[in-house]
Amino acid sequence: MAGQEQRRRGVILVPFPYQGHINPMLQLGTILHSRGFSITIIHAKFNSPDPSNNPEFVFHSIPDNLSVNQKSSGDILGIILALNFNCQTPFQECLVQLIEQQDQHGEISCVVYDELMYFSESVASHLRIPTIILRTTTAATFVSRLTLQNLKAEGYLPLQDSMLLDPVPDLQHLRFKDLPISILGTPEIFFQLISHVSNVRKSSAVIWNTTECLEKSLLMQLKQHFQVPIFPIGPMHKFAPTSSSSLLEEDTSCITWLDKQTRNSVLYVSLGSLALMDISELTEMAWGLANSKQPFLWVIRPGIVNGSKWIEFLPRGFVESIAERGYIVKWVPQKEVLAHDAVGGFWSHCGWNSTIETISEGVPMICKPSFGDQRVNARYVSQVWKTGLHLENNLESHEVERTIRRLMVDEEGEEMRHRARELKEEVEQCVRNGGSSNNHLEDFVKLISSF
Ligand code: UDX
Repeated sequence: MAGQEQRRRGVILVPFPYQGHINPMLQLGTILHSRGFSITIIHAKFNSPDPSNNPEFVFHSIPDNLSVNQKSSGDILGIILALNFNCQTPFQECLVQLIEQQDQHGEISCVVYDELMYFSESVASHLRIPTIILRTTTAATFVSRLTLQNLKAEGYLPLQDSMLLDPVPDLQHLRFKDLPISILGTPEIFFQLISHVSNVRKSSAVIWNTTECLEKSLLMQLKQHFQVPIFPIGPMHKFAPTSSSSLLEEDTSCITWLDKQTRNSVLYVSLGSLALMDISELTEMAWGLANSKQPFLWVIRPGIVNGSKWIEFLPRGFVESIAERGYIVKWVPQKEVLAHDAVGGFWSHCGWNSTIETISEGVPMICKPSFGDQRVNARYVSQVWKTGLHLENNLESHEVERTIRRLMVDEEGEEMRHRARELKEEVEQCVRNGGSSNNHLEDFVKLISSF
């Protein structure tokens, strides 16, 4: 109306409360805020994001009723099911309140929910608010899950040992052993979950934190599969470079240490926010790193070895043996680390955020996946994009040492670094004006503005 300031329309975001899911959801919030939407985050109490990182957003915490034992159990499947059951009523109450305040705060355009927080869809649809799904993994992971559902329906599960190394029809780069079957929980719970997650229900669209230059043919296939539009708008962090949502404190002293190292010389090592290891794996990894004689920056997350406070289970003599050559911290500003000139490789568990952040900086990888989609991502890095080496066997220090040298010293590693830089450029094109992710983002903004 003339003379009146136009009120922002609102988008409500519902993240799944783990680091690898909070990050892309808050990046989406930053992107939509810059496009004129007000952002409200409705989140579980467990692993609450820190509102001070995003003073421009409104945060509402809802009770999740997770027990202390559940939170520390590591049973992520159980936690997903519990959140979907426990959060439904408090989410509804919170949403009703926000609807009542629309006159004051601006109209709600839609709810965007993490695919794992699927309870949001029924609540919002019941209240006649459009919903959008955010998928934080790849198109290949989604198709792999569909494949697993088909294999189950056709009676092929559990997979026979003789099939494990065979290629998966329609996903030629994957072997049956790479499919993201869960090692956690029972198969019944796992399949119950993926059927919930694959179902679009009444949602109006699906956003994906991937991009056409990485997965064009699978994304085309998925466009046919879904009845609703899909928007591959990744890497979202490139549209939202200032977004920060670490649950752990970032140790920025590692940047000062990196500043003193030579170009491409440092192997950055991190297994993400969830993966665990035992003492013998930690020991093999430590001696492999030490004996490779390459500089390394190693994130050892407190608790990565069950029951550890931090680095007390490192082998005796290790810290002395690496002197100035290695730097060990609890948590780093990872995107800044990957963008640093000194970093020449990343030993990663291949969580999708880490993988797409690495591709975005043109850094080659050593892939050591632990579970779920990480195996699919590792296979794509090593076999499709050819920007990394896949460590498939149990960790053994001599193999670790050889693999590090192959990546950091040998010609083979230099070729991967070269390919990684080319891939980085392709991804940059997707994000620029006229690029596929940029176009999809424009279309997505148009869609939610039309609701
Ligand atoms: C989990 C699952 O393990 C993964 O397979 C799925 O794709 C997403 O959820 P997570 O272990 O959290 O992933 O790994 P990842 O997806 O890589 O996300 C970790 C995030 O934490 C990244 O955005 C990374 O930049 C950040 N991080 C990691 C830091 O900021 N500092 C660190 O020291 C380590």
